[in-house]
Amino acid sequence: MKWSLLMMKSLWISLILLFQLHNYLNCLGCLEEERIALLEFKKASYNTWQSIDDGYDKLPSWQIDDEGGSDVDCCSWERVYCNTTTGRVIQLSLDYSYDRFVDDCYLNVSLFSTFKELQHLNLSYNGFRGWIKNEEFLSNFHNLKSLDLSGNLVNASSQTNQVGSTRSLVGLGKLEALDLSTNQVDNHVLPFLGTLTSLTTLSLSANYLEGSLPMKALCGMKRLQELYLSLNNLEGILPPCLENLTSLKILDLSYNQLNGNIPSSLITSLPFLSHFILGYNDFEGTFSFKTFANNSNLEVIDLSSAGGNEFEIEFEDSPWVPLFQLKELSLSNYNLNKKTDAITRFLSSQYNLRKVDLSHCNLDGTFPIWLLENNTMLSDLNLRNNSMRGHFLLPYHVYNATRNIDISGNCFSGMLQKNIGNIFPSLRGLNLSKNNFEGGIPSSIGYMSSLLSLSLSDNNFEGEIPKHMAIGCNRLSVLELSRNRFQGQVFRPHFNLTRLNILRLDDNSFSGNLLIGLSKCSWLQILDISNNNLTEMIPSWIGAILVSAAEEIEFMTKSRSSSYRGDILNFMFGIDLSVNNLIGDIPHEIGDLSEIHALNLSHNQLTGSIPKTFSNLKQIESLDLSYNNLTGEIPSELTTLNFLEVFTVAHNNLSGSTPEMKGQFATFSSTSYEGNPFLCGQPLPEVPSCTIIGASTNPLATTSNDVENKYDIDISAFVGSFVASYVVFLLGLVTILYINTYWRRMWFQFIEACINSSHDFLFDSYN
Ligand SMILES: *[C@@H]1O[C@H](CO)[C@@H](O)[C@H](O)[C@H]1NC(C)=O
Ligand SMILES: *[C@@H]1O[C@H](CO)[C@@H](O)[C@H](O)[C@H]1NC(C)=O
Ligand SMILES: *[C@@H]1O[C@H](CO)[C@@H](O)[C@H](O)[C@H]1NC(C)=O
Ligand SMILES: *[C@@H]1O[C@H](CO)[C@@H](O)[C@H](O)[C@H]1NC(C)=O
Ligand SMILES: *[C@@H]1O[C@H](CO)[C@@H](O)[C@H](O)[C@H]1NC(C)=O
Ligand SMILES: *[C@@H]1O[C@H](CO)[C@@H](O)[C@H](O)[C@H]1NC(C)=O
Ligand SMILES: *[C@@H]1O[C@H](CO)[C@@H](O)[C@H](O)[C@H]1NC(C)=O
Ligand SMILES: *[C@@H]1O[C@H](CO)[C@@H](O)[C@H](O)[C@H]1NC(C)=O
Ligand SMILES: *[C@@H]1O[C@H](CO)[C@@H](O)[C@H](O)[C@H]1NC(C)=O
Ligand SMILES: *[C@@H]1O[C@H](CO)[C@@H](O)[C@H](O)[C@H]1NC(C)=O
Ligand SMILES: *[C@@H]1O[C@H](CO)[C@@H](O)[C@H](O)[C@H]1NC(C)=O
Ligand SMILES: *[C@@H]1O[C@H](CO)[C@@H](O)[C@H](O)[C@H]1NC(C)=O
Repeated sequence: MKWSLLMMKSLWISLILLFQLHNYLNCLGCLEEERIALLEFKKASYNTWQSIDDGYDKLPSWQIDDEGGSDVDCCSWERVYCNTTTGRVIQLSLDYSYDRFVDDCYLNVSLFSTFKELQHLNLSYNGFRGWIKNEEFLSNFHNLKSLDLSGNLVNASSQTNQVGSTRSLVGLGKLEALDLSTNQVDNHVLPFLGTLTSLTTLSLSANYLEGSLPMKALCGMKRLQELYLSLNNLEGILPPCLENLTSLKILDLSYNQLNGNIPSSLITSLPFLSHFILGYNDFEGTFSFKTFANNSNLEVIDLSSAGGNEFEIEFEDSPWVPLFQLKELSLSNYNLNKKTDAITRFLSSQYNLRKVDLSHCNLDGTFPIWLLENNTMLSDLNLRNNSMRGHFLLPYHVYNATRNIDISGNCFSGMLQKNIGNIFPSLRGLNLSKNNFEGGIPSSIGYMSSLLSLSLSDNNFEGEIPKHMAIGCNRLSVLELSRNRFQGQVFRPHFNLTRLNILRLDDNSFSGNLLIGLSKCSWLQILDISNNNLTEMIPSWIGAILVSAAEEIEFMTKSRSSSYRGDILNFMFGIDLSVNNLIGDIPHEIGDLSEIHALNLSHNQLTGSIPKTFSNLKQIESLDLSYNNLTGEIPSELTTLNFLEVFTVAHNNLSGSTPEMKGQFATFSSTSYEGNPFLCGQPLPEVPSCTIIGASTNPLATTSNDVENKYDIDISAFVGSFVASYVVFLLGLVTILYINTYWRRMWFQFIEACINSSHDFLFDSYN
């Protein structure tokens, strides 16, 4: 008895001792040399990061010990992970830690030569174009298992003496995961990839790869489990040796120009396949959906068509039992009209779906209420542009996983179910546009407190905006109610949609003092209330609403570099208040909208003169002030507006001479000025009476076909440039918006609204 007690005791004591030893080793913290190297890295990153004092310190806990009593043990610093036994750094998460707004930002690899046991290095989103001293790069890191360089500007072909590039990937024999997505990598990278035979994960998405699939490099990677090559310019057929990559789980080749067949043997020889993402390519031939039947791990299938090719998907009529439960299915852009039954049969075998995209498929039938009933986790449902009809009937159940629903461009009709807001309390995007819905907006929409984007355009909706919605949906960024029969005073006084970026209320019967209610919307970028019944004066603060958004951008960019400025600022700003009954003067503060691209105030009852401040609208492309009662002279300063493509002040009471025919003004014809009896000068025809003050005859009397021009503003130029800027914006976004977390957060919602619900949804009112 005693002996065993003693044994127990000594065991206990030695355990405690061990524990203390362990603690002691821990207390040693990180190696001094590693700590110094980390501080060097920080120094290098904020040497170029001028506003570190303004709260932009990305690595605040990385401090020299006498600063604010912080910890000397770098293992306790943020983004640093050590092996608790050896105290050596094994993981560094240095994503978003550098200032990318420096034109030539190269990583000094020597800083990393200390970290001999580093296993995971994340350098994503830092704007690195490459690294200095390539011969050293990472060859030190013989233990490195994962390297994330995504979202930088690495260019495989730029090789100079000083600046290293992908060549230096040679020698990373143990690397298991390499992420080079969203860089500027081209085919020069391929020879070096071939040496990375241990890879299980490789991402080269969103780069500049071209030609056929680089099988020479890939076929050797027998352990490959995840391969991402989407968003490149790859073409040619799927090479047979893909079938030899039998460990493959995720294959993402979407958004390339691959062609030829999708061989069924590819699918049957990859037993672990979970993600088969080949959408938006140029495949040909017929593919039998039944081929997937035995791949029991399948979760994601994306075979969406880029359109205009000869690829067909066969849904067998004979029953078959899939061994998988999909999470995502995207089959956009196929004519599935004759196959509605077969696809319904397949879908009714699935009960774990999260995303379903069957847009542009010519599907008929009624709303698939059973799809929701079967799949309570359904997050995104896209049935846009089909031929479905009937009521938008919903199950009596709360779907709080549902984020986006797009059933636009169908023939759905009837009233919206009253409890729609209770059914989808977590919805982010709802697009019901281009259907035949009628009746009012159910006030339960106000329960959708996460809603970012709501489009009800092109229906027969009527009534007022429910008060509950104007209060409850206060995260809305995009609201489109165009071309319905809405009426009333809209949002006052409870209006709280202060985060709107895009507001389209055009072609309704909204009345009264609507604009006043918008004064809280400091993020507005597109405001279209044309063709309503507004009867107020244009408030002077309108010059401030869009400005505050623009100033924020300017503030963000000024302190860094100007080279990225254009990308964000080209983002569209526009106001269309045409065809209302607006009265009073045009406030000169509109001249503060220095980033506006289109301004349309035509067909109102505005009086007074054209503000001289309009010459500050440096970005403006379209300015329409026609059909008002404006008087006075056209400010000659307007000729400095270099982007002006559309300009009209026709049918007012302007006098004096037309602006000099220089710059863009040389391109405007007399139609821009007609209907102003006291206006003279080129390009108007000679009007002798013009010089006689007080002439009373109007030699250019309005003709009836002017009415046809009534709403013929240059909205297409407006939208065209908007779309272009938007694309540039989106592309730029990935590489830009991380500069500041605040800014990113603000924009995230908007971007999410745009991307998640549907790309083109913002623009198609003009299609
Ligand atoms: C930490 O280092 C020890 C000794 O080298 C090693 O045995 C252990 O696997 C390491 N732990 C981790 C998590 O890397
Ligand atoms: C890179 O870092 C090393 C080690 O800190 C330093 O000696 C060297 O001067 C740096 N090189 C450049 C170009 O900054
Ligand atoms: C690296 O950081 C990025 C950005 O924060 C993150 O999305 C990514 O998952 C990280 N990579 C790894 C391998 O953890
Ligand atoms: C990469 O660098 C090469 C050579 O400097 C250059 O010609 C090419 O345009 C660059 N690629 C990209 C995508 O910037
Ligand atoms: C697949 O691998 C086998 C044996 O490893 C080899 O014989 C065959 O040629 C490979 N197929 C392709 C298409 O590379
Ligand atoms: C799936 O497995 C069954 C039974 O082994 C077989 O009869 C069938 O042909 C397989 N289907 C495909 C598409 O490989
Ligand atoms: C899905 O719905 C269909 C039609 O209501 C039904 O026949 C089928 O059994 C359901 N499937 C599951 C897995 O619940
Ligand atoms: C709608 O889908 C059809 C194919 O079903 C396609 O041809 C058409 O372009 C689509 N229309 C729009 C507006 O996307
Ligand atoms: C959704 O609702 C269920 C049941 O009411 C609840 O358990 C779950 O936490 C909710 N999920 C979210 C994301 O709110
Ligand atoms: C208005 O919305 C903001 C958030 O955007 C919220 O904090 C505030 O409480 C709301 N005000 C009212 C009266 O609902
Ligand atoms: C416009 O508003 C006025 C008064 O606010 C009203 O008398 C008129 O009927 C409205 N017109 C339309 C078309 O709604
Ligand atoms: C336009 O202004 C003139 C002069 O101020 C005035 O006589 C006329 O009644 C106004 N016309 C309209 C339609 O308001």
